[in-house]
Amino acid sequence: MPSSAAPARVLACDPASISFDGAGEPSFSDPATEAAIDAAAALVAAHDVVAFPTETVYGLGASALDATSAARIFTTKGRPADNPLIVHVASPAMLAALLPPGYTLPPAYAALMRAFWPGPLTLLFPFAPDAVPSLVTAGQPTVAVRMPAHPVARALIARARVPLAAPSANASGKPSPTRAAHVLADLGRAPRGLALILDGGPCAVGLESTVVDGLRPDDTLRVLRPGGAAVEDIQRVL
Ligand code: TXA
Ligand code: MG
Repeated sequence: MPSSAAPARVLACDPASISFDGAGEPSFSDPATEAAIDAAAALVAAHDVVAFPTETVYGLGASALDATSAARIFTTKGRPADNPLIVHVASPAMLAALLPPGYTLPPAYAALMRAFWPGPLTLLFPFAPDAVPSLVTAGQPTVAVRMPAHPVARALIARARVPLAAPSANASGKPSPTRAAHVLADLGRAPRGLALILDGGPCAVGLESTVVDGLRPDDTLRVLRPGGAAVEDIQRVL
């Protein structure tokens, strides 16, 4: 259990040392990177939070499948409970496990996922009853999901074997962090305690993911938050 006094540990990860097989399972040429990611995965299994790099910004992640974990995200950030979290998956199978049984993706989503996943595009989906705790969705009827491109994020989700709910790793109201040092300065001594920050270097995109709602009854897509996937690129794909 992290204490409120101890600052977070920062463990360096080399993204270039991680490769993935066809099923999305990671392998590591750098043992220190593998050890860091396994330490983070162990914290996730213990219902704790960890900070990790994505290609957009650093995230504050915990299991998206259980309420204790999700609650720790809100307390660590001081985030209002009415602001839903993005769920990060590492494979299409992980997304499918969240969706209502037999759900067919809208054609626009299939095209957008082909073009932008893994990457900085978040889409809203309906979800299976009880697939995600209502804390994660803040009681919304939809869940926001994205597949991050950063090798450290993908490897962490794959090793944790659960999707990660992760808002940006800043205290509520502060700017989104693009370096591990920003996370340490902002949340390294958070009241609830953040035990571990994975340092994968600066984020390449530096801007949060674009959030798109394509579940509207009139079949139009709405950009709920502009971000790393440019609206013109989204329009071109459609
Ligand atoms: O790039 C990103 O998206 C980063 C990295 C860590 O993945 N995450 C991030 O999360 O920016 P956060 O929590 O700072 O922003 C999530 C945004 C919020 O504007 C939230 O309201 C919206 O996504 N959102 C999440 N779930 C939603 C839902 N079910 N319906 C509508 N909006 C939702
Ligand atoms: Mg944020």
